[in-house]
Amino acid sequence: MKPQRKVFVVGGHLTPFIGKGHPDFIWKKHPEFGQRENPTLEELMTSAILGALESTGVEAAAIERGYVGNFAGELFSNQGHMGALAVRAHKDLQGKPFMRLEGACASGGLAVVTAVDAIQAGCDVVMALGAEVQTTVSARDGAGFLARASHWESERELDDFTFPAMFARRAKYYEEKFGVGEEDIAYVVAKAYANANKNPNAHMRDVKVDLEAASQASDTNPRFLRNEDFKDYLKVTDCSQVSDGAAAMILASEEGLKKLGIDPSKCVELLGYTVATSPLGQVSDYTTLDNTKKAANELYTETGLKPEQIGVCEVHDCFAVTEVLMTEALGFAEPGKGGELAKSGATAIDGKIPVNTGGGLIAFGHPVGATGIKQVLEIYRQMKGLCGDYQVPTKPEYGLTANMGGDDRTTVCMAFKNV
Ligand code: CAA
Repeated sequence: MKPQRKVFVVGGHLTPFIGKGHPDFIWKKHPEFGQRENPTLEELMTSAILGALESTGVEAAAIERGYVGNFAGELFSNQGHMGALAVRAHKDLQGKPFMRLEGACASGGLAVVTAVDAIQAGCDVVMALGAEVQTTVSARDGAGFLARASHWESERELDDFTFPAMFARRAKYYEEKFGVGEEDIAYVVAKAYANANKNPNAHMRDVKVDLEAASQASDTNPRFLRNEDFKDYLKVTDCSQVSDGAAAMILASEEGLKKLGIDPSKCVELLGYTVATSPLGQVSDYTTLDNTKKAANELYTETGLKPEQIGVCEVHDCFAVTEVLMTEALGFAEPGKGGELAKSGATAIDGKIPVNTGGGLIAFGHPVGATGIKQVLEIYRQMKGLCGDYQVPTKPEYGLTANMGGDDRTTVCMAFKNV
């Protein structure tokens, strides 16, 4: 969708993403275990909303409506009805239309594009936010909750860890088809951790994983799947994190910016978005992300952009092989060459096409509903020079996001221009 009315990202806020491995996360080995609790879904959401209002200087009363990305609040936190939960954050949001969007791990991306649609329909200032808490249960039980994003009837039994097994399956077929090994895919993992180590908001900001550690299984990096066909193709370091976190952003039309007294030069412009959806449980080729490719190609056609023009990119690296496949689907690398692209340094912070500069889902973390919002905020923050130690050295003119739900079943792609 190419906006008929211009849409600007005004700014926003994200909470630190936390979970096992993060120094502030309370679990049985934390010195404050039993004395302090981790933040709830509502607390995270409230903190992101109030942070977005404060950092942009936008009054809550100016927000006309809001869209909330969340996948599984009912399962992890016994909480649904996200719009009504969100407006508890501020009295001036109460009474306004706030509602939830759900598309598995693409829920955040869907919240952003629905906010864009609202601006096309006549709204001027809209909030998009996302939040997820996943650490209320064990990783194994949580994997069962996340499996609701698969075709439950036909795919759940792949493994207790359904999604890790689905992407181990992709890694197996990819490695066999293109003759690459897990060490070739490990470059994206080493990059993710190196970037996250520079990012104060990252779940894995204090955890070191270098290329050697990411390339092989070990006692601390086990192959944990039970599925005999796929277990050899996935280790713990190949996986995104089970994170808690929230992110909120404000979008405005040109009229909205005038009302807010914000100059467009402080913003990033959305050039277009696409959403592609494919049927659950019906992947025809495990070695490509066909649904993402469709969304990306439509976006390039719609905006006139070419892959080589993109100066910064956020892709959905729910597993290491997914980043490799994403860079191929987005046209940055030929099929089978995504690992080589990472190995060449092209996707590093100072590379030709920096990808997942804050650490991606693997090391920044993956609080499912917040991920798509975070991706857009990261592009905004990179374009506006707000990324501190992980700031890209160039001033990117164009940026792209690809947020994926399920096994490449829903993909939201967006393109942005620095103003
Ligand atoms: N040796 C052998 N096995 C070991 C082991 C060791 N040293 N350490 C752990 N394991 C095994 C055990 O079987 C363990 O399970 P149990 O404790 O239940 O027996 C299992 O590995 C997991 O161990 P932990 O619970 O200690 O693991 P963890 O808390 O460190 O988590 C992880 C690691 C399981 C990889 C977890 O980070 C994870 O599940 N990540 C993936 C999250 C995910 O799938 N997100 C969704 C992505 S898909 C997407 O984005 C699209 C969508 O729409 C859903």
